[in-house]
Amino acid sequence: MTRLITTAVALMVALAGCDAVPGRPKPEARELVPSEVMVFETLYARNCAGCHGHTGRLGAARALNDPVYLAVVPPERLRQVIAVGVPGTAQPAFALSAGGPLTDQQIEVLVRGMEERWRRPDALAGHEIPAYDGGRAGRESGNADRGRGVFARACASCHGDDGRGGSRGVGIVDPSYLALVSDQHLRTTVIAGRADLGMPDWRGAGGVEPLTPQQVSDVVAWLVAQRRPVPGRLP
Ligand code: HEC
Ligand code: HEC
Repeated sequence: MTRLITTAVALMVALAGCDAVPGRPKPEARELVPSEVMVFETLYARNCAGCHGHTGRLGAARALNDPVYLAVVPPERLRQVIAVGVPGTAQPAFALSAGGPLTDQQIEVLVRGMEERWRRPDALAGHEIPAYDGGRAGRESGNADRGRGVFARACASCHGDDGRGGSRGVGIVDPSYLALVSDQHLRTTVIAGRADLGMPDWRGAGGVEPLTPQQVSDVVAWLVAQRRPVPGRLP
């Protein structure tokens, strides 16, 4: 009897140091701590797909697998948006330093992954690309009165007169819509379109003239001028 117990104890001690115990996961199958995940697909699926779409398109928020968008946006801006978010909109801040779940290295994996997988360097070869940054400069140079005319010519065929919605595009001047998005989002949409939903980029569709950089700023200024206070939203 004592021998049996001794053998059993010896066996347990031996097995405790052994990785091949039935039921114990192999080291390579061990679940990574979230901050250790460095695989683009996993990071994208866990943090971005819910809003930007599972394959980077057809989400509620803009397509990210869009070569036109990626030719327009500076990588530094991608880093910034992911790290600190876009205040006042649904885009969350992901950096640990901003209260989010991702390390700087993980944010870098996301930025590089989008660029490597979805960017095509020649996507806009031969085209003069309007500046991404609406920033202060874009807003100051845009003229809302001229923008109304640009809208009538380039946008109303889909979004309806004065942007209230048409047969081929939703209304985009509703105060509750405009309260959810930033000025830059409107500018990004005018420049890069929503190819996944059928909205053309600034070059237009069906033989129309591309918007000039001035017309881009003007039509964005007109959209921004349609903002109205919405109860419960900070201005
Ligand atoms: C060929 C049709 C078409 C044209 C022309 C067009 N759009 Fe759109 N636009 C769409 C579609 C489709 C969507 C996706 C939403 C929907 O289904 O209406 C959209 C979406 C948008 C959105 C919302 C994007 C978002 O995700 O928040 C804005 C803003 C917008 N368009 C502005 C414009 C402006 C400004 C112009 C003119 C410079 C324009 N559109 C020209 C079809 C068009
Ligand atoms: C809860 C929904 C949500 C999640 C999750 C989300 N986004 Fe967004 N994202 C948005 C919205 C809404 C906007 C538009 C914000 C605005 O109005 O400027 C946006 C904007 C962006 C833009 C800027 C587009 C531009 O105008 O240049 C980038 C880049 C972006 N998101 C990347 C990501 C990445 C990468 C992730 C995952 C790490 C992510 N987002 C997760 C909702 C989301």
